[in-house]
Amino acid sequence: MKPYQKYLLGLGMAGSLHLTACTTQTTTNTETMTTAQQAQQQVSEDVHSYAEPTKAVARHLDLDIAVNFDSKTISGTASYAIDNLAKGNEIIFDTRGLQIEKVFLGDNKEETTFRLGETDKFLGQPLYVTIKPETNRVTIKYKTSPDAAALQWLNPQQTAGKKHPFLFTQSQAILARTWIPIQDSPGIRITYNAKVSVPKELMAVMSAENPMEKNDTGVYSFQMKQQIPSYLMALSVGDMVFSEVGPQTGIYAEPATIEAAAYEFAEMDKMLVAAEKIYGKYRWDRYDLLVLPPSFPFGGMENPRLTFVTPTVLAKDRSLTSLIAHELAHSWSGNLVTNATWNDFWLNEGFTVYFERRIMEELYGKPYADMLAVLGYQDLTNTIKELGAESEDTRLKLDLEGRDPDEGLTDIAYEKGNLFLRHIEMAVGRERFDEFVNKYFNTFAFQSTNTDKFLEFLRTDLIKGDTELAEKIDIEGWVFTAGLPEDHIKPTSERFAQVEETYTAWKNGKPASQLITKDWSSHEWLHFIRMLPANMNQQQMQDLDKAFNFTNSGNSEVLAAWFIHAINNNYITADKALETFLTNVGRRKFLVPIYKALAATPEGKKKALAIYAKARPNYHAVSTVTLDEMLK
Ligand code: BES
Ligand code: ZN
Repeated sequence: MKPYQKYLLGLGMAGSLHLTACTTQTTTNTETMTTAQQAQQQVSEDVHSYAEPTKAVARHLDLDIAVNFDSKTISGTASYAIDNLAKGNEIIFDTRGLQIEKVFLGDNKEETTFRLGETDKFLGQPLYVTIKPETNRVTIKYKTSPDAAALQWLNPQQTAGKKHPFLFTQSQAILARTWIPIQDSPGIRITYNAKVSVPKELMAVMSAENPMEKNDTGVYSFQMKQQIPSYLMALSVGDMVFSEVGPQTGIYAEPATIEAAAYEFAEMDKMLVAAEKIYGKYRWDRYDLLVLPPSFPFGGMENPRLTFVTPTVLAKDRSLTSLIAHELAHSWSGNLVTNATWNDFWLNEGFTVYFERRIMEELYGKPYADMLAVLGYQDLTNTIKELGAESEDTRLKLDLEGRDPDEGLTDIAYEKGNLFLRHIEMAVGRERFDEFVNKYFNTFAFQSTNTDKFLEFLRTDLIKGDTELAEKIDIEGWVFTAGLPEDHIKPTSERFAQVEETYTAWKNGKPASQLITKDWSSHEWLHFIRMLPANMNQQQMQDLDKAFNFTNSGNSEVLAAWFIHAINNNYITADKALETFLTNVGRRKFLVPIYKALAATPEGKKKALAIYAKARPNYHAVSTVTLDEMLK
């Protein structure tokens, strides 16, 4: 059965239901359910998982694995406590590229039969395990393949310390199945314990309760007591140390990076306090960061208790820390209340961007948050232009069936999602909106939810039959319609108004060296660089570069934006810096626009391919999948 042919019920109440599995639709006996159960029932179809959790679902994972840097493999056992809800004879897991060696049932480990289904390029293979009606434990002995897409194995040269290898995982969106056989749907939650064996000179950390220091055995134990979806399974192994920031917060990084990281993120404890002030108690005990080597393909990844973060935010002036606010915000939107399918991704990211900016406003004031809002709005309008205002991918509720979710997840979820929430906030006032969102997080805590369920909550708990308000909020226009509703708020920023004046003066002939740019943060610089005309002559490029030294900027955002102009205007002075950047940094958000700009001319494309050939071994699969396609 293809995953998109099945309909799943939301979790939480699945245990109390008898379901008939069939190929096209699952019917339930609604008459025998209480009203509460019916209200809880949601039909959430996850087209990206083969699992059928209404029949048999995993509740807890005991992972026992060894990490082997020589063979670039992880091997061991994934042992699940399961609920065989349908009392049938099968449980299905997701796998991709895994070697399944043996499968056992029960605590006495009786061997059972299994079979792997056909391979789908994105989804991998379903693993069908034969179980008995009474089976409550399934143990899978397996091994990963050296090219498992979630894993990046770095050689010592690719780390800051240059002495030890390093490994990290990236499971979102559907890559957990490349390193663990798992029911890989965000609508399914598990708790987990793990025992991980690594080379003795290295340390292991996970999205769980962490060790804080290296031991001499090379064996590390972890516990994640709260239920989490599979995409939040995370592991990293390397030469790392821990540095405390506040009572509840700290940083893991390579020894060579820890000092810079401790300076950059010194305010993370304050962020946690600010976040709690807005949406209530942090539910995951500790909040730590792991600063990764530069090949990390994202800015940040909200692995619970341990956000993974790119070192490209180490700007030395704390100017890029909104990214930490973002990942911290996911501790509520995403990790606590989770999108049930990738079509509902905006519930994760839209709420998170909204919350991120609220945290930044709380800490640094409205003028600061306004800058972030304007930059985000620029990203949004660019994305809409790129996709086309009529494109269905510009709707909040997505349809990613048949596609790799990773490729369909764009700024729309982030910035249109955020704008929708700001739009509702404007309509009802901040106080009422805060109360509503608080209640939303509490009501759905540790559950997965979908767009329909959220909208139902919005109607019953906020709109409450007020037709004028319903019209103003315009759910249909925002969630199910392409493009942007006309009455959306266009964010503005006082601080950027000053940047715009400065820019105009330059454009009218004032030399760059005479511009007043004192006290500009990297956001003002970014706004300035984004405003620069697409076509500039060498003299203009030099004038700017001489005055502001953009080519050698230590700020990755500034650098990445400047390189686009350097490429478009054939400013070869930046060539060397550009090549260094592209060979070191693996963050996809930077790589894609830069390679795209290069590939726009035949000559540039040659350059792009030459650099890519050298740089590709430094990139994570998440980035190479996108770039291979773009540059082929
Ligand atoms: N959860 C995302 C990263 C992600 C999204 C990974 C989809 C895989 C699939 C994370 O929270 C995120 O949004 N990171 C952003 C930073 C943020 C400040 C916008 C990034 O990496 O650029
Ligand atoms: Zn995010």
